[in-house]
Amino acid sequence: MNIAVAGTGYVGLVTGVCLAEKGHQVTCVDVDEAKVAKMQAGRSPIYEPGLEELMRANAARLAFTTDWAAAYKDAQVIFIGVGTPEKKDGSANLKYVYNVARQIADSVRSECVVVVKSTVPIGTNDKVEKFLRERARGVRLHVASNPEFLAQGTAVRDTLQPSRIVLGVEDAFSEQALRAVYEGFDAPVLVMNRRSAEMVKYASNDFLALKISYVNEIANLCESVGADIEDVTAGMGYDGRIGSRFLRAGIGYGGSCFPKDTKALSWLANFNDTEIKTVRAAIEVNENQKLKLLKKAKKYFPDGFDGVKVAMLGLTFKPGTDDLREAASLVNAAILLEDGARLQAWDPVGTENYKRFYPDQITYCDTIQQAITGADVCFIFTEWEEICRLSPKVYRQLMNKPIVLDGRNCYSLPACEEAGITYISVGRRPVEAGQ
Ligand code: UDX
Repeated sequence: MNIAVAGTGYVGLVTGVCLAEKGHQVTCVDVDEAKVAKMQAGRSPIYEPGLEELMRANAARLAFTTDWAAAYKDAQVIFIGVGTPEKKDGSANLKYVYNVARQIADSVRSECVVVVKSTVPIGTNDKVEKFLRERARGVRLHVASNPEFLAQGTAVRDTLQPSRIVLGVEDAFSEQALRAVYEGFDAPVLVMNRRSAEMVKYASNDFLALKISYVNEIANLCESVGADIEDVTAGMGYDGRIGSRFLRAGIGYGGSCFPKDTKALSWLANFNDTEIKTVRAAIEVNENQKLKLLKKAKKYFPDGFDGVKVAMLGLTFKPGTDDLREAASLVNAAILLEDGARLQAWDPVGTENYKRFYPDQITYCDTIQQAITGADVCFIFTEWEEICRLSPKVYRQLMNKPIVLDGRNCYSLPACEEAGITYISVGRRPVEAGQ
């Protein structure tokens, strides 16, 4: 099929490349000329394992352009995969979606399906269809919702082998076109109305966020009552109704989806005069969780962090990505710097992006060892493999004071005891050096 994809972020680019892999002819559109030039040269503008290889392997079926009119005019299916960032009030900003809709309306020449892949509030597909039909006179346009469920770091796999394909359609033409798009995929296809499809996306993401906040609250309680969250979640996870995934306690969720989509659903509920208390609670728990380690560190630095040498290991919101959106490291770094701490940071891929926030205030290190050398305290914000593989003894050897606050439970407690470090993690008993 002849497919166009608007937007080349995580959603758009990965969708476009994976559809080309399945044999479709795909044109990816973006307004950013530098980004388009990069992709034309076979390079991915985002860090995503396996994506660049797939771009090169499918170069013959993939085009990248800023010329939206040419890309949309004869496309059979047009995917909208642009961002829907959070507005100040928590609602989703749809201006990029409507920009693309306007361009589509002004350029299409034959009947086609416009597929909204961006996460949009319930009812948006209806509005986009009305907008398109009013503006694109003489051409029949259909709108369908087809949410994506890809996670950063595993986006290619999640897209090529999806857990399910959700098609929100209101007419047979759209259903047929989308079934043809996904013919080569081996996954359950669920056909429903557009509003339900839009809701599936929010309900899924918010449920996962809720699961994380729930487990984080249980972890906090474990600390108070002497239970161990790792044992507790192991015990819970065997129950198939609960499942063991997304039960990792830690410093809270970040990223481009959970924080935004929880706030958007909460806003939407409010707007519709209903309440979604569980999601509101998940948001609040997460905000507090991000600062938990810092609060615990105050026990060791009662006079504050002025002049304290602080190592930060892991800057991104999770491993396998260079994305910093809503990363716990950011809010912690801001407070530590305000308090006068001297920060030395290590991250395998997130450093360049971090420099946009803090070009000079932080010393960026090439190795974990450099970052912890001479440090008075170390915070772990991301469970990068390199960090998990490190022996806790290295902290004892290189730090000034071996105090490690781990927001991702990277090490076993006995290993930390044996290493003789002070080790404070989440939902587990503290290990104090020299005890
Ligand atoms: C998420 C969803 O997984 C994906 O389906 C959706 O399409 C987009 O949002 P992503 O944001 O890429 O994907 O990352 P994910 O792996 O879900 O992690 C999100 C955050 O939750 C990270 O900060 C991660 O560290 C945290 N997390 C995840 C936990 O704290 N505990 C867990 O058990 C799982």
